[in-house]
Amino acid sequence: MSQPISSSLAEALSGWPPPVLDPHGPFSNTVTTLAWVLIALFTLIFVLVCAALWVALYGSDELRARLGGEGVVKWFGLIVPSGVLLVLLAWGTVMVAGMTTIQGDELRMRVSGNIYWWRVSYLDAAGKELHADANELHIPVGRPVVVDMVSEDVIHSFWVPKLGGKMDMIPGRTNRLKLQADQAGVYGGQCAEFCGGAHSLMGFVVVAHEPAEWQRWRDARLARQQAQPAPAAAAAHDEVQRGRQLFGEVGCAACHRVAGTTAQGLSGPDLTHVGSRQSLGAGILPNNRGTLIGWIGDSQSIKPNNRMPAYRSLQAAELNALAAYMESLK
Ligand code: CUA
Repeated sequence: MSQPISSSLAEALSGWPPPVLDPHGPFSNTVTTLAWVLIALFTLIFVLVCAALWVALYGSDELRARLGGEGVVKWFGLIVPSGVLLVLLAWGTVMVAGMTTIQGDELRMRVSGNIYWWRVSYLDAAGKELHADANELHIPVGRPVVVDMVSEDVIHSFWVPKLGGKMDMIPGRTNRLKLQADQAGVYGGQCAEFCGGAHSLMGFVVVAHEPAEWQRWRDARLARQQAQPAPAAAAAHDEVQRGRQLFGEVGCAACHRVAGTTAQGLSGPDLTHVGSRQSLGAGILPNNRGTLIGWIGDSQSIKPNNRMPAYRSLQAAELNALAAYMESLK
């Protein structure tokens, strides 16, 4: 079975140079610097080992005697490797501290890993949830973002290669990692710890906005928290109305939340803004009427063993109405 990938995520996670070597922010920059130092170091060590091997096989007796001497073993078997490892340990420790310590001016978020999607919460300075979303993070350019990471089932790993390091999400524990984007754009993220059969289909996107634009986005989200969705225009739309009614009848509301309505389920992704998301199914499909219909009707054939049942008994008109309602949730 071929797995369709949303173009934005595919683009964000592919290309040359590979995302890990193409940092777009200060935190990923430090990781990339360390990566280049490690690549240079192992290249040097590989060349040295090859040279030593050549001497051992073909060198003169004198060179071979020197290579087998105590000095070489002491220096290259003990002192140099210990020194290199200590320097790397110190460097890594300082780097991780810089990526995990809160300074106070950061945007705060919490992301929790689920089989196979991401719960996203935007927090105030005290850590209280202001508004929620799923599978998509919106951040302002140039400002560090602290992401608290938890898991609601098994171990996942949060990774946005162009914006930061990689951090495990462990049940019962809160880990922390900072991200920052220096340019507006869409950045791809991916679960980086095997968490089940559809692990590779557990993606997400980070959308970085210019600060003023991000503030407008944020204000709209906060305003939308209390207000009823779908104002007059959408309510007048029969198909959307029918979809909204079906959403309750079919049982969607048991697992999904739509802010401002009676749908307050928490075990599945928050759908308050599903119509405005770039991707569907946690980063794997473009978000449009057709993919919405396909996902609702039979998400199991798209992402096997995800926790949403397939609704194969729904008629085409019903699927269409549900998808129309989803599209109206901006
Ligand atoms: Cu979640 Cu792999």
